[in-house]
Amino acid sequence: MCDVVKLEREDDIAIITINNPPVNALSGRVRRELKDAFLAFQKDKKLLAAVLHGEHSAFSAGVDIHEFCKPTDAPSLPELLAIIDDIEKPVVAAIEGNALGGGLELALTCHYRIAHSHAQLGCPEVKLGILPGAGGTQRLPRLIGAEAALNMITSAQFSSAREGGLSGLIDRVVDENLLDNAKEYARHLLRTHSPIRRLSERKVNTAVLNKDFFEDYRDKLAAAAPGFNAPLAAVNAVEAATKGKFAKGISFERSLFNECLQSDQSRAQRYVFFAQRRAPRVDLLAAETTPITVHTVGVVGAGKMGQGITTSCLLAGYPVTLVDLNQHALDTARAAIEQSLTSLLRRHKLTHKQRDAAFARLSTSQQLSHVSGTDLVIEAIQEDRDAKRRLFTELLNLLSSNAVIATNTSTLDINALAEGLKSPGQLVGMHFFSPAHLMQLVEVVQGDATRPAAVATAMAMARSLKKVAVLSGGSDSLIGNRMLSVYSREADALLLEGAGVVQTDDAMRRFGMAMGPFQMADLIGLEAGYHARKSRQQRGADNLPVTSPVADKLVEAERVGQGTEAGYYRYEQSCRAPIPDPAVDKIIDTTAADLSISRVPIDDDTIVRRLTLRLINEACKIIDEGIVQRPSDIDVIWVNGYGFPIFRGGPLCYADSLGLDNVVAELNALEKSSGPRWKPSAYLIQAMAARMPLASYDTLSAGERTGKRRA
Ligand code: CAA
Repeated sequence: MCDVVKLEREDDIAIITINNPPVNALSGRVRRELKDAFLAFQKDKKLLAAVLHGEHSAFSAGVDIHEFCKPTDAPSLPELLAIIDDIEKPVVAAIEGNALGGGLELALTCHYRIAHSHAQLGCPEVKLGILPGAGGTQRLPRLIGAEAALNMITSAQFSSAREGGLSGLIDRVVDENLLDNAKEYARHLLRTHSPIRRLSERKVNTAVLNKDFFEDYRDKLAAAAPGFNAPLAAVNAVEAATKGKFAKGISFERSLFNECLQSDQSRAQRYVFFAQRRAPRVDLLAAETTPITVHTVGVVGAGKMGQGITTSCLLAGYPVTLVDLNQHALDTARAAIEQSLTSLLRRHKLTHKQRDAAFARLSTSQQLSHVSGTDLVIEAIQEDRDAKRRLFTELLNLLSSNAVIATNTSTLDINALAEGLKSPGQLVGMHFFSPAHLMQLVEVVQGDATRPAAVATAMAMARSLKKVAVLSGGSDSLIGNRMLSVYSREADALLLEGAGVVQTDDAMRRFGMAMGPFQMADLIGLEAGYHARKSRQQRGADNLPVTSPVADKLVEAERVGQGTEAGYYRYEQSCRAPIPDPAVDKIIDTTAADLSISRVPIDDDTIVRRLTLRLINEACKIIDEGIVQRPSDIDVIWVNGYGFPIFRGGPLCYADSLGLDNVVAELNALEKSSGPRWKPSAYLIQAMAARMPLASYDTLSAGERTGKRRA
């Protein structure tokens, strides 16, 4: 086994290298070998300074997250950092690539820092439900001030080495030859007799903080990210850094860190971290399957979805031809895309040059033939089966036989869309979420005939658009919207039985959802769901036991959501703030009376329980039917596409935290009192009996995915 840490000598300079691909995570072994290397450096009288750096163009992405679920191997990171802190010879961190979490804490403990200008620095711990636990909350405010440190820790955003240079985090920023420059920097420090700079010996500058600073910061956080515990714990730890001695602060930070690490929130967030990285892997594709290389993209349909998809592709560097029969729609789309790019510029996510270059990659046309040379065409026209099929027929006549056609349908079965096409293997689903340039999720849909290369292309494309891609088998409504459908129907049922619109939305937001079900319905628009329900009913395909009579009545009263300034709420002049509307209460009352339902008060807990149980049970039915590759993919979809709180990990992870015995008992009781829609799914019963968690990364076997479970 080769070493993960190497100590080399160059005259009087020690070069200590971390080599633990892919991200130089600080595993137990790396920490042990770093400890040995630093002790050897300390002992060797011929060595006068050390440079610490990482292989693989990375400094370190922090502690190995896999190790959080077992007891910590010695030395812990704080123990290792205490050794480095005490060294009496200068230690220089040479940062290339990422210095994140424990990686940044390691760099902060070194006495000086030099970085490549492209290096990224950050404290992403709160995304894992924890806070920096190796002195980050104590050293960072001593270096850059309490406010800047808190902004960095609670936002979890990365900053560049250049920004780090400006804030004092980095002493020297270079554009090339980092290691040579770092050695030269170490020699310079020796020549100039520079002192050993220990952040542990500094004080936080409190003169710049007003007296309510920490209280205000906590209030701001609680309003911006309600429900999350780790960011608030980080504020407490940074506050401690302003009050007492370093050692006391470190031990307070460690106790908060351990508390967070053991919490359900952190368990859920760490599960989502790995689930998201697992989701894009299509395990059933043969190893030799390769995606086609996409040089240019065509997008057909210049509506909202088409605009968002086009913007996403432009931002990723693709030249895009946007086609629509209607010139006015194309003009509107051009203006909207330009506006989206400019808004990214205003928020400092793009430079002027990048904005202009992205917009210059756009061309628009009324002629479908203008996409003939493209490698990938994404269809984003209206949800009309026949119109889509006509378009695919035309496209297949225009495109090369290698090209891929991706449909953005969210409600139509890809197998029905592909039926009878001359080359159905070229058709794959890519279901984007609105607004497509901002939402992270893409459901990639593999129909029965879809070629493996088309699936691989859609997955690779989603990755290059910086999206989280999840594979779905072909079915009506895919995975996410199928669950949304039962969730929305249950929300409607709650209204009829006595819950209020605002009450339901508030209860679900308190649970942690980014939006309540009715706010979300108004945002998405009620029309697509209405047409999908009607079409399924006409085809006799609607076997869902609860329909959505209130939603139907709203659409029939031309209240289709924010677009018409009226839905479950009313809206004023394109303002998105929902205003409760007594007219809706009236519609609910009359609909309930027509259906002979007497409305009675329903408490918030019941609302949350019923809505989440429906999600959990439907998710298990989807697993049962083999539509999903692995259970954790469902959680990835709900966290990224529907605002399910990441600190609960998604519906399946949440079910595990409730205990499957309890979930099944509740479903059984509801089935008894309210009918068969509550019948626990076979998969749920099976998991409970086997004491097997629902939230699993295990890929379902080929048999399970081809419907063996159903048999
Ligand atoms: N520990 C273990 N594995 C890690 C890791 C870590 N800290 N960071 C990344 N990885 C793994 C990923 O799981 C992935 O593995 P697979 O290929 O097996 O899926 C691989 O490294 C590559 O990661 P990505 O696919 O995410 O690659 P990317 O290039 O898109 O992103 C990254 C790289 C920016 C480093 C991103 O992985 C990331 O943000 N990692 C998390 C960093 C983090 O949260 N660090 C803090 C850890 S906690 C800590 O250090 C606490 C403390 O104070 C003690």
